[in-house]
Amino acid sequence: MISLLRFLFAFVCLISTGVYAESQTDCNPLNGTCPNDAALGTEHTWWFNSTLDDKLWNMTTGEIDYTSTGADFSIKTENASTLLVSNFYIFFGVMEAHVKMAKGAGIISSVILQSDDLDEIDWEWVGYNTSEVQSDFFGKGNTTTSDRGGYHPVSNADTEYHNYTSYWDKDRLEWWIDGKLMRTVNYSEPLTVYGKNYPQTPCRVKISLWPVGIKGQTEGNLEWGGGYVNWTDVPFTMSVQRLRVKDFHSGKEYKYEGTTGTYESIEVISGNSTAKQEIEKTPKKTLAEKWADLSEGVHIGVYCGAAAAGVIVFGAFGWWCQRQRKKGRLQRALDDGQNGAELKSLEAYKLQWRQSEWGQKSYQQVPNT
Ligand SMILES: *[C@@H]1O[C@H](CO)[C@@H](O)[C@H](O)[C@H]1NC(C)=O
Ligand SMILES: *[C@@H]1O[C@H](CO)[C@@H](O)[C@H](O)[C@H]1NC(C)=O
Ligand SMILES: *[C@@H]1O[C@H](CO)[C@@H](O)[C@H](O)[C@H]1NC(C)=O
Ligand SMILES: *[C@@H]1O[C@H](CO)[C@@H](O)[C@H](O)[C@H]1NC(C)=O
Ligand SMILES: *[C@@H]1O[C@H](CO)[C@@H](O)[C@H](O)[C@H]1NC(C)=O
Ligand SMILES: *[C@@H]1O[C@H](CO)[C@@H](O)[C@H](O)[C@H]1NC(C)=O
Ligand SMILES: *[C@@H]1O[C@H](CO)[C@@H](O)[C@H](O)[C@H]1NC(C)=O
Ligand SMILES: *[C@@H]1O[C@H](CO)[C@@H](O)[C@H](O)[C@H]1NC(C)=O
Ligand SMILES: *[C@@H]1O[C@H](CO)[C@@H](O)[C@H](O)[C@H]1NC(C)=O
Ligand SMILES: *[C@@H]1O[C@H](CO)[C@@H](O)[C@H](O)[C@H]1NC(C)=O
Repeated sequence: MISLLRFLFAFVCLISTGVYAESQTDCNPLNGTCPNDAALGTEHTWWFNSTLDDKLWNMTTGEIDYTSTGADFSIKTENASTLLVSNFYIFFGVMEAHVKMAKGAGIISSVILQSDDLDEIDWEWVGYNTSEVQSDFFGKGNTTTSDRGGYHPVSNADTEYHNYTSYWDKDRLEWWIDGKLMRTVNYSEPLTVYGKNYPQTPCRVKISLWPVGIKGQTEGNLEWGGGYVNWTDVPFTMSVQRLRVKDFHSGKEYKYEGTTGTYESIEVISGNSTAKQEIEKTPKKTLAEKWADLSEGVHIGVYCGAAAAGVIVFGAFGWWCQRQRKKGRLQRALDDGQNGAELKSLEAYKLQWRQSEWGQKSYQQVPNT
């Protein structure tokens, strides 16, 4: 009975997460006026061993499983993926992730910072090599070349947590592993097109696990991913123990002035950020704690109600699953003939994947089938 109840709660949570994710919209500030970005405006460490605050984090695709040591991001079925996105942005700062990558050909684990105009700073683990992590960056979604990636040795990346830290300010980008500086990119150098393609606008955190080794991929992308995913090997799992994020500004919001997308054009709106207020408020009780607070009579009442509701919820859930499956988010992104045909380069594919996963806008425009 208890486990049935847990199921019901989990289902209700899943459904509401789905609805939220659908309501997200994409807006590129280089194309016109967008809502301001909510700042983090502080520094905080999230331990991933208990439920993340959904005011700060959006489970956009898939789900994560909490364990005593961290959160598991898993791909459990063919073509599935998971994506967690922060609701807050940092405008220069530090991101320190303690991660165990997922092992398996064609599977990509990633922890990135990405802005609304597609500046991006990446850590990526390609599942066939558990002795390496890749660093990368994008400026304004420019995917013309694939020459920005860095390759860094790291031991037992799938079985041991390592400290992967990105440092980002207006002068330079740094990637650190376990306290060792692995790579620096300066604001102005050929790789950044002398600053023009240097990441410099407010970014969110995105943590995801996704398959690149699937049918229809280009040779180049398959080669990068180490071939096709072997779907008999599911689940593929990446684990995140904790994440420290520091915003170098301490305001409330970030606003793009004009459409240049330079850091000089970002206005920092002062005040206490919503995220900071949320972090500092007294912790909410967990479901289990709330449940324990209720009297025995209430427990019994809820069991009975749940038994009746269960029939309905299971039916509704089945319908919802069916609908979600039909929508096949990742699949749609990949099957999208118009885009797919043009997506030759790996860089373009990576960016397309992340945008499609996050934005959801393109899905809303597609009529329900
Ligand atoms: C800007 O908007 C136009 C028209 O809606 C669209 O075709 C284009 O892709 C957009 N560009 C960006 C960078 O979002
Ligand atoms: C999560 O881990 C942190 C650090 O080890 C610990 O302080 C905290 O009590 C843990 N929380 C849970 C719910 O296990
Ligand atoms: C998910 O993200 C959207 C857009 O940032 C936000 O409006 C919404 O409140 C978020 N969902 C939750 C549950 O916080
Ligand atoms: C995109 O990047 C390439 C080099 O990677 C550069 O030659 C080109 O000017 C960039 N385009 C824009 C619009 O910044
Ligand atoms: C895995 O990565 C390490 C470190 O970059 C590299 O030396 C090794 O050749 C890679 N292995 C394969 C199979 O690509
Ligand atoms: C992780 O690495 C960063 C960069 O070297 C360092 O500042 C930080 O203290 C490290 N974190 C831990 C927990 O050691
Ligand atoms: C970055 O700038 C520093 C000095 O500020 C210099 O020592 C270093 O060589 C530069 N790196 C690159 C890749 O240009
Ligand atoms: C997974 O995606 C590939 C490529 O779009 C497709 O060919 C395949 O049928 C999909 N598999 C499932 C089970 O949806
Ligand atoms: C997929 O994995 C299974 C079990 O690990 C193995 O038996 C099979 O040979 C693999 N298939 C391919 C095509 O590598
Ligand atoms: C920000 O929060 C602090 C307390 O944490 C409060 O004293 C201060 O007045 C707040 N500032 C604004 C602008 O709301």
